[in-house]
Amino acid sequence: MRTDNRIPIQSTTENRTMRRHHTARYYAHRVKESLTTRVSKLICTIVLALLFLVGIISFILWLSLRPHRPRFHVEDFSIPALTQGSGLENAQIIYNVTARNSNQNIGVYYDSVQVTVYYQDQSIGGSPVLSSFYQEPKNTTIVAGTLSGDTLKLTNERWQQIMADRAGGQVVFRIDVVSVIRFKISSWDSKHHKMHADCPVGVGPDGFILPIYKDKRCPVYFS
Ligand SMILES: *[C@@H]1O[C@H](CO)[C@@H](O)[C@H](O)[C@H]1NC(C)=O
Ligand SMILES: *[C@@H]1O[C@H](CO)[C@@H](O)[C@H](O)[C@H]1NC(C)=O
Repeated sequence: MRTDNRIPIQSTTENRTMRRHHTARYYAHRVKESLTTRVSKLICTIVLALLFLVGIISFILWLSLRPHRPRFHVEDFSIPALTQGSGLENAQIIYNVTARNSNQNIGVYYDSVQVTVYYQDQSIGGSPVLSSFYQEPKNTTIVAGTLSGDTLKLTNERWQQIMADRAGGQVVFRIDVVSVIRFKISSWDSKHHKMHADCPVGVGPDGFILPIYKDKRCPVYFS
């Protein structure tokens, strides 16, 4: 029993000494290790904070420099020949659409502008308007003109359909303004974009635009 008792005691003492040695080394190691982790954690935090800052700055720059597409509104549209009930020989389509550059600091180059009028998804005429021009920020350009003669392609059959619609109270057309534009951001010019403004427009039996279609904003898309 004594031997049995001594052996455990001895071994416990040995264990204690060993543990003390072990513990000292262990703590030295631990301190070193925690220092390394703390330094790497600090570096990680700094890098993440920098990334976050760069992200916020880019987001703000993007928000302030992001170009808005120009806004188009139908101001006026008429086919006087509808009132007169006359034939289509001298028919004219008179249109007036405004294009506004709503950007604060971004200009828009219009390289070309083409107006086409559709009736039941068939082109009934169109022509190029305006020569290429530069639109300053916060400026509005009037896209107005008349389609007649060569630029108006109405067949007798279509005219009959239009007259039938007129008897129903309104005739609906669609003005498609197609332009090729570039944005001017500071001294940098963007690539060319083909832009469509698609404006539905209805006229009454008198041939003049109906109030609900006036001053309406046209959907704009790029193709
Ligand atoms: C087109 O409409 C605008 C805005 O209503 C007007 O200021 C302008 O004089 C019109 N232009 C033509 C040619 O009708
Ligand atoms: C729009 O541009 C024209 C031509 O550059 C200029 O004469 C006019 O003053 C400008 N309008 C506005 C509101 O800046």
